[in-house]
Amino acid sequence: MKILFIGDIVGKPARTYLANYLTAIKDDLDIEFVIANGENSAGGSSITIKTAKEIFESGVDIITTGDHIFKKKESREVLETMDVIRPLNYGNLAWGNGYIIKDKIAVVNLLGRVFMQPVDCPFKAVRGVLEEIKSRAKIVIVDMHAEATSEKLAMGYFLAGKVSAVLGTHTHIPTADERIIDDFTAYITDVGMTGSFDSVLGREKHQIIERFLTNMPVRFNLAQEDVRIQGVVVDIDEATGKAIGIERVEHKKSLRID
Ligand SMILES: [Fe+2]
Ligand SMILES: [Fe+2]
Repeated sequence: MKILFIGDIVGKPARTYLANYLTAIKDDLDIEFVIANGENSAGGSSITIKTAKEIFESGVDIITTGDHIFKKKESREVLETMDVIRPLNYGNLAWGNGYIIKDKIAVVNLLGRVFMQPVDCPFKAVRGVLEEIKSRAKIVIVDMHAEATSEKLAMGYFLAGKVSAVLGTHTHIPTADERIIDDFTAYITDVGMTGSFDSVLGREKHQIIERFLTNMPVRFNLAQEDVRIQGVVVDIDEATGKAIGIERVEHKKSLRID
């Protein structure tokens, strides 16, 4: 079966784009299940009931998140009532769950620690739940939300042969290193984002430049131009959970998906 995994959805421009095009993309690519990272879906930071609903109504089955998840109070209700998960290694005391199993597909969310705020060890956290998850689902997809390429790739090798895919998010820039590790686990360091390509990571570029120039706080607005969906399609053998293929995809208005 083909699973589409979509990179960080950045605000309203991205949500609107998704609502307009995701159904056609799913038909075109023969997609059966869609996972999307929604940590930037509400105004560029965190998630609300309204933004999660919009994403699900567009055709997404499960939403993962990342380091921005708790920046809106409403994220608690989202995490406790919807198919939305937060990084597992925030630990048991944080709101919500770090993994979910739906239609026999398990999705685990992890957060990196290199160049990021301190959290529990993602390696030990996933090791602690893997046996339980694998007893309930053959297909296991891991969203490794992290800054450092080394930490993401190390996670790919750590989970090789144990999960169907380790897919990186957070940097909003897709990498060209997709591969199948040990003839079992699909891997990519970062799938990219869903948002304005004519921007810095989805934010208005001139404001980001001003911040770098002045070193002073600047309010960042979301950029609106040239919105794209970036992600990967992972083809998985349902009987074994083994990944057969991984392909980067990008959709923009002027271009069909490639
Ligand atoms: Fe992030
Ligand atoms: Fe993000």
